[in-house]
Amino acid sequence: MSQAIERIRHQGLRNKVMSAEQAAEFVQDGMLLGISGFTGSGYPKALPTAIANKAKALHAEGKPFSVGVITGASTAPECDGVLAEANCVSFRSPFQSDAGIRGAINKGLTAYQDMHLSHIEQQVRQGFFGDMHIAIIEVTGITEEGKLIPSMAVGTNNQWLKSAQKIILEVNVKQNPKLEGMHDIYFDVGVPPHRKVIPIETADQRIGTPYLECDLDKVVAVVLTDANERSNKFAEPDENSKRIAEQIIDFLNNEVKQGRLPNSLLPLQSGVGNVANAVLTGLQDSPFENLTGYTEVLQDGMLDLILSGKMKSASATAVSFSPEALQRFNDNIDFLRDKIVLRPQELSNHPEVIRRLGVIGMNAMIEADIYGNVNSTHIMGSKMMNGIGGSGDFTRNAHFSFFVSPSVAKNGAISCIVPMVSHHDHTEHDVMFIVTEQGFADLRGKSPRQRAQLIINNCAHPDYRDMLRDYYDRAEKASASAGTLQTPHLLTEALSWHQRFLETGDMRIK
Ligand code: COA
Repeated sequence: MSQAIERIRHQGLRNKVMSAEQAAEFVQDGMLLGISGFTGSGYPKALPTAIANKAKALHAEGKPFSVGVITGASTAPECDGVLAEANCVSFRSPFQSDAGIRGAINKGLTAYQDMHLSHIEQQVRQGFFGDMHIAIIEVTGITEEGKLIPSMAVGTNNQWLKSAQKIILEVNVKQNPKLEGMHDIYFDVGVPPHRKVIPIETADQRIGTPYLECDLDKVVAVVLTDANERSNKFAEPDENSKRIAEQIIDFLNNEVKQGRLPNSLLPLQSGVGNVANAVLTGLQDSPFENLTGYTEVLQDGMLDLILSGKMKSASATAVSFSPEALQRFNDNIDFLRDKIVLRPQELSNHPEVIRRLGVIGMNAMIEADIYGNVNSTHIMGSKMMNGIGGSGDFTRNAHFSFFVSPSVAKNGAISCIVPMVSHHDHTEHDVMFIVTEQGFADLRGKSPRQRAQLIINNCAHPDYRDMLRDYYDRAEKASASAGTLQTPHLLTEALSWHQRFLETGDMRIK
């Protein structure tokens, strides 16, 4: 820990070092906490456990203790997981992906507002969530002047430091000190009617400073930690992921050949997960050069594109790697520092910038319907999976918006192409391309009925194609006689596939 204390170069803040248990005493029942963390990076490693232990002790005495938790995005078992296990999260926003907190949400123990990630900072700034009592922020270090060196994720930290009444800092010695200089912190966004133009014109443009700043008088505790990030291994791309990736790359190749895209493409946004990673891995052998990224989380695939020289730079709000990729990142951090820009998520996901840059957005989905509406969040209409994350920020504003999924889930018992989605996240107006291992549907310039033909014929699994055709043909006939042919549906049947799965464990009629 002596190494850790040297990370705090500001004497006044050194004097505020205490244990996580002591710092947790500042956290009281009913408070709203702004916690750092984005896609398993940059979350506090010690305070959540200390708060959870405090909650358990109070609950054992029959006393109430729960807090609201707002983060940048998902955290990890050491944060969301331990708090959920102590049953002390009354409210959660804007995104999660931890099994424990997901369980608490689906059991109704935690109220969850699933939000576009670009919206959360402005809504907190404008007071929609009430007072933020304490910000708990992981940092890499603190400079002599008391400026904070961010860690692997910037997320919402900038706003939490401004909004919170009190601040607890976790200085994590495991974070590479050479992260200093990689971040671009900008705060001059303004509040309507005085919002400002965001002056980002290229993906790698820096418009702010490398440091987070806060009112040092608000810092009530500094906690030293020495803990690794949660680090998930990526599975090798399976055949489905590879097939999806190949089709996207073929499509982009053709757009270049037709002169509609430059050979460097446009800045790439890639959602989380194995398919997204497979697309980026596939780009390694593509003919494109000088690629750029404008995304929210930079993972293994994009890191390797930068290391190989295929991608020249990328902007994100967080980096989140497998253990092997983390090693490559740390080994090459001097090379990477000016090629990776980590910004507040309000900017990484900003609609204005995404539209200006013409981002190519690629996100995974749970299901799409025959008209191109997409559900990214709810299983069978009711059960929360993770949340919309940044997929909406990018999809609505992207130059190209892809949604990808295997055509079936649960060994074929679920079709990911359905008559009607059981929950809407992205409407037919935003979704341009649907890609499964079966094929590619280019929905641009197509009416709903034309889209239905493409999606059923190209994207649905053969086991479900005839069922979908039968549904569509009957819906079309009924709509023709009713004079409602824009988007034919049989309302009493549209969600019957989901109901059948709930009743029999299979969407197919046995
Ligand atoms: N019905 C029921 N379950 C389904 C399903 C469907 N139509 N489609 C997938 N699933 C299940 C899978 O079986 C799997 O379950 P398991 O965890 O029990 O194995 C799980 O959902 C994940 O599916 P997978 O195919 O492995 O995809 P993924 O890991 O790429 O995740 C999303 C897909 C949609 C859940 C994920 O991308 C997500 O949360 N997206 C929303 C947020 C987002 O887009 N973020 C990036 C924005 S920048």
